Amino acid sequence: MQRKNVLISPSILDSDLSDIGGTLRRLDLAGVDRIHLDVMDGHFVRNLSLGPHSIHSARRHAKAPFETHLMISNPEKYIREFADAGSDIIIVHSEASHKLESTIRSIRRYGAMAGIALKPGTKVEAARKYLGKIDTLLIMGVHPGFGGQKFISGSLVKIKKARDMIDELGFKTVVAVDGGMNAYTARLAIAAGADEIVAGSAIFKSNNPVKSIARLRKIADHELQVRNLSFRDRRIL
Ligand code: DX5
Ligand code: ZN
Repeated sequence: MQRKNVLISPSILDSDLSDIGGTLRRLDLAGVDRIHLDVMDGHFVRNLSLGPHSIHSARRHAKAPFETHLMISNPEKYIREFADAGSDIIIVHSEASHKLESTIRSIRRYGAMAGIALKPGTKVEAARKYLGKIDTLLIMGVHPGFGGQKFISGSLVKIKKARDMIDELGFKTVVAVDGGMNAYTARLAIAAGADEIVAGSAIFKSNNPVKSIARLRKIADHELQVRNLSFRDRRIL
């Protein structure tokens, strides 16, 4: 499917969490498409971060949709809490649950959009049978747990596979990439077929987060235009 623009979703994991309200208001003003919230349980990944209470408190500071990325074991137990806290999209890891099908159903039942995330070692095929039932397929560009890591270039092949699979099946599922995204790697990811770029340190470790978002958006939209052109050419030839 051809898109008009790439979704830009800042991850606030590496932002100054003592001023989360201010950060979210500035992200709204910067016109971001989604705000990416990383939830970690110290079990599925070796780190701890936000929970439903902090997400609920943050909710009133931004209008942009909240995309909650659950890096927790047995996410099915907590769907209601994260939906009630104000998550618009809830993404669960395919490796974290044996009950993906019912977890996706419960995310929708509680009024949120559903997504599946894949760790670098997990094949795209693991998500195939759910593609028609989810809104977002999130491909990790790093091993989940920490911001500021280097993009694993092998993820590009997975992005391409996901793109082709979704297009062949005729679904509208968004292909998101999370981890190691910067102006350079985002271009590669979009050329490979990504629709959404999640970026943390490239935004919050820069001197000017608002400018970094604008730069990322400009580069992303340019790369998407190139991708759309070659898509059209392929159909004409
Ligand atoms: C990693 C998280 C990412 C991460 C992104 O486990 O899911 O969302 O914070 O941070 P950067 O962009 O710095 O890789
Ligand atoms: Zn994330």
